[in-house]
Amino acid sequence: MINKQLKHYTIEDLLGKGGMGEVYKALDTKLKRPVAVKILKQELTKNPERRKRFLQEARAAAAVVHPAIAQVYDVDEVDDLTFIVMEYVEGETVSKLIVNRELDLLGAVEIAIQVSEGLAEAHKKGIIHRDIKSDNIMVTRNGHAKLLDFGLAKLLESKEANDASTMDIQHTMTMARTIAGTVMGTIAYMSPEQARGQELNQTSDIFSLGVVLYEMVTGSLPFQGDSPLDTMHSIAFDEAKPVTIIRKNLPPQLHRIITRCLRKKPEDRYKDASSLTEDLNHLKRDMDSGIRRSLSPGEHLQNFVDWAKSSVPMGSSGILIAVLVIAVTALLIFTDLSFGLLFWIAFLILFAYRYVRNRKGRMVKNFVTKVRTTKEVKAILFRENQLTVIVEKVLAKYYIRFNDLIDTVNKKIYIGDPVELAIRDDLTDEAFQALLREPGVLYVRDDIALQKSDTPTG
Ligand SMILES: Nc1ncnc2c1ncn2[C@@H]1O[C@H](COP(=O)(O)OP(=O)(O)OP(=O)(O)O)[C@@H](O)[C@H]1O
Ligand SMILES: [Mg+2]
Repeated sequence: MINKQLKHYTIEDLLGKGGMGEVYKALDTKLKRPVAVKILKQELTKNPERRKRFLQEARAAAAVVHPAIAQVYDVDEVDDLTFIVMEYVEGETVSKLIVNRELDLLGAVEIAIQVSEGLAEAHKKGIIHRDIKSDNIMVTRNGHAKLLDFGLAKLLESKEANDASTMDIQHTMTMARTIAGTVMGTIAYMSPEQARGQELNQTSDIFSLGVVLYEMVTGSLPFQGDSPLDTMHSIAFDEAKPVTIIRKNLPPQLHRIITRCLRKKPEDRYKDASSLTEDLNHLKRDMDSGIRRSLSPGEHLQNFVDWAKSSVPMGSSGILIAVLVIAVTALLIFTDLSFGLLFWIAFLILFAYRYVRNRKGRMVKNFVTKVRTTKEVKAILFRENQLTVIVEKVLAKYYIRFNDLIDTVNKKIYIGDPVELAIRDDLTDEAFQALLREPGVLYVRDDIALQKSDTPTG
């Protein structure tokens, strides 16, 4: 590509490769200025419908002018190449700065403020970035943040990709690998709604910016799993460890701001980027003037609950049990209870325990009632704390929906180990039949005939 001419741009150097293509430094020979040219992978642009949508989106992004957004100058196609010409940013990506530990707290907050201002401007024009991550933010030598690749992620949202929930897992993973880098590198920054393949709105960008801010101040990501699906699960269900726990000297306000960005429900987050900017500016002023604003009692309590949710086993239910145990113990030690009363208390506790213990059974039944309505489900078994759902084919949508349900079950089980879920489609007919003959079968689809075992039984 080097020294090639694309329209009036002369390609000079390769700047880097990402999931969507290659980025070159080039010279705009008309305006005599350096530009960055991103040439998109052909496999992403060969579908004409998709290419058309991409060009539309890029043109919309070009309409956003803001100092914190790398300006899009041009999009075009020459021969088979679709490319986007943008402002050349001389500097480092935030991800590099994080790896090289070149960011201090004030710098991180400053970058977040600038990006948030840029987002506010784009959102006003109805454009969602969709792929905010530390690789897509550059910082110039004099400290200006520049957000790259506005709206480009739309390109990955083909009909198929958009509807990841209807793809089988194998297919999802293959796709994830094909667009490796992009999807893989981006998953950790996805909002819960994005991980679920649902509609995005501007607060999805706020969530992703929260992830970047978290990463900038702690050096680690809030949600991470061993596989892409695990990471997606973590994004959807786990509470991030508070930044103030990872780095003890961080201001509690920063923790509050990040948690508000990272709320699972879009409506619980900052309603827009301007309100986020406002809070960040406030924090920055306090840091500049050396004030460490003390939190209100309510905020302290909220911080404690956040901490407990991410650190105590069983989360909020764990806290509830601990509080109950302490209260009853205190009651026994400090009051002069008669034996009769003690008996009643013991009885009540036993009753409550039984209720709670049986809860698992009830919750599992509940799960079965919901899952059996899916016609591809052939059978459901529960044995030794493991729920096995046997389906025709493991589709990503089942993985997400059933795990969602199991998560609800586990949240409501106060005592005992959480229920584990296995979704299987790999059983041979014999293995399947053998399973059905064992205890713990909770549901078998009507059309599945139970074959008589070949081996004579007792
Ligand atoms: N406008 C630009 N100015 C200067 N360098 C750029 C510019 N855009 C990208 N780069 C450089 O090129 C590298 C590759 O960018 P690219 O966007 O292709 O990859 P990515 O951000 O890792 O992945 P994705 O495809 O998901 O955006 C970046 O890491 C950055 O160093
Ligand atoms: Mg990029």
